[in-house]
Amino acid sequence: MTRSALCAMLCFACLLGADRIAADDFRVLPYLQNPAPEAMTILWFSDSDAPGSVEISPTPGQSSERVSTATLAESLAYPAWEVSTYFDGTPPPPPIQHRVRIDGLAPATEYHFRVQQGESAHEGIFTTAPARGTSDPIRLIFFADSETEPESTGKHTKWLRATDLQTPRTYPLDQTTGLANNLQIILERDPDLLGIAGDLVESGGEQRDWDEFWRHMTDVGGVNLAARVPLIAAPGNHEYYQGPRMAGYDQPGSERSISRWLSYFENPSNDDPSAEGRYYRLDYGPVTLICLDVSNGIPNRSAHDTNFFLLGDDESGGGHSPGFGEGSRQHAWLRRQLADSQRTSAFTFVFFHHVPYSVGPHGWPAGNGSGRDPQSGVPVRALTPMFHEFGVDALIAGHDEMWERSTLEGEEVLTDGRRRPHTLQVLDVGIAGDGLREPEPGLTNPHQQYLVHTDVPEVWSDGVLMSGGKHYGHLEIDVLPTEAGWQAILKPVHVFPFVDAQGNLQGFERRLYDDIIALGHVATAINESKTGDAGTHQLQLPYPNPFNDTVLVRFQLASLETVRIEIRDNRGALVRELLDRPLAGGLHTVEWNGRDGDGEAAASGIYLISMHAGATRETVEALLVR
Ligand SMILES: [Fe+2]
Repeated sequence: MTRSALCAMLCFACLLGADRIAADDFRVLPYLQNPAPEAMTILWFSDSDAPGSVEISPTPGQSSERVSTATLAESLAYPAWEVSTYFDGTPPPPPIQHRVRIDGLAPATEYHFRVQQGESAHEGIFTTAPARGTSDPIRLIFFADSETEPESTGKHTKWLRATDLQTPRTYPLDQTTGLANNLQIILERDPDLLGIAGDLVESGGEQRDWDEFWRHMTDVGGVNLAARVPLIAAPGNHEYYQGPRMAGYDQPGSERSISRWLSYFENPSNDDPSAEGRYYRLDYGPVTLICLDVSNGIPNRSAHDTNFFLLGDDESGGGHSPGFGEGSRQHAWLRRQLADSQRTSAFTFVFFHHVPYSVGPHGWPAGNGSGRDPQSGVPVRALTPMFHEFGVDALIAGHDEMWERSTLEGEEVLTDGRRRPHTLQVLDVGIAGDGLREPEPGLTNPHQQYLVHTDVPEVWSDGVLMSGGKHYGHLEIDVLPTEAGWQAILKPVHVFPFVDAQGNLQGFERRLYDDIIALGHVATAINESKTGDAGTHQLQLPYPNPFNDTVLVRFQLASLETVRIEIRDNRGALVRELLDRPLAGGLHTVEWNGRDGDGEAAASGIYLISMHAGATRETVEALLVR
């Protein structure tokens, strides 16, 4: 790297307030990959090809220090137009990738690590995955469509009102701030894994967009999120996209673009090297996560194609983007994984980029012209029967940038051949920090259960938004042990901005949309029921308890009932009413954020959580520790 180019990069790091980066020999700070109960990978990038090292404590095995495998990452070279436009013809050379795979670890155990590269050191903390068969709770967070690029700073996305699609309006926060605030909330929630359902960067072929992505992930208010939480990512269409300055999705440029994604992420090989990490399976505690690459349906420009501009596997002149339809290698692989996961996992979540059911622009059928979309998610619907057959719990996708939840009703085929009704949840979580779209006029989705644009009206007072509306956010999933098995609580989180009447951001807070989904799994009858015994109304123990941030109130209704959930202090005084409305039978969850009805933080102490449902009155206690 030339001195001037290095200075340009470092000065940008200084502007971000990350002084420790300025003195670093790191091009990308260390981050976690490919988590397992007994192993973790640490990756980082440097200018120097001298190996670095990792020290870990507590020390597993014989040696506390591991030396990195250093490899030139040629695919991360700046393309010619970036070289001439931003680097005056002398760009930083491609970086060196450093990899250390740490084996021999204990499951569900916290480790501290320190990476030394040249004169620089960086520290992180990780927790290994729980072993199968244990009952450790886990927290997963997913988002999609961060679409990072330096140009996101100062760029405000379109933000149309549900009641007025004609009058232009933009979101008060720019995209960089929106994503940064979202990541700040994620960091505070301390998840076990952070999943990204595609479109991580704006243009996969532009190296500056990747630099921006890693600046976000490794510097969240001065904390390296990616050195604490392993990232797992699915490739989206933007990872295959070279960018507007370079022939879009043409080959071989599109393969050069996705090769950047492949250089950054180490995914499980699942004994199938031909997948190249573009699709993979990761088991984590009681959950199986399956990542698919649905970026290119085959044949090209057919009703089965999710990208009319991209040529992939088995297409003349195509790259390696895999087909996902029947007869493809990915389809056969998926079938094997789902069959195994159905037998061995409490929950199966499949994540990929193209949401198949949506009222956004990619909800139109594949095609060109009015009422069609050349980047459609509709072809992915071909997989829905297989998802039903093996009892997949939820699909987590992005691409339409709206937050929309759909349900599909079908039949699961149990391993003994019997059938039972099955509900498949489908989520578009593509609101990480780019678009906040509105539905397409004239397009309907009969499976839609919740759409933020229409289901969350804005409430304004004196020119200030008080609540509601569509905002950046993510999906938080708590997987919790119960007496009978497991529950998975799917929470739609949004980052609500406090913006004054002059448009100045005063702060932000984590809020939930009113669409929490509770999924049940009965471990003692793994092939009998996933919904549990719904014979009575029941209030379950709160989780976590004690708590210092938020607590989940979980309850089960035998049938349709009006439910009131109240929080009282230990003298019986009402602190907050959480819920008072009719709900259908089944599992439900609400979250209390430890605040009273005026939004003031409640003091440390014991709180009584009561449920009134028909003739049922039940109370449990939760301890708030500030
Ligand atoms: Fe997309």
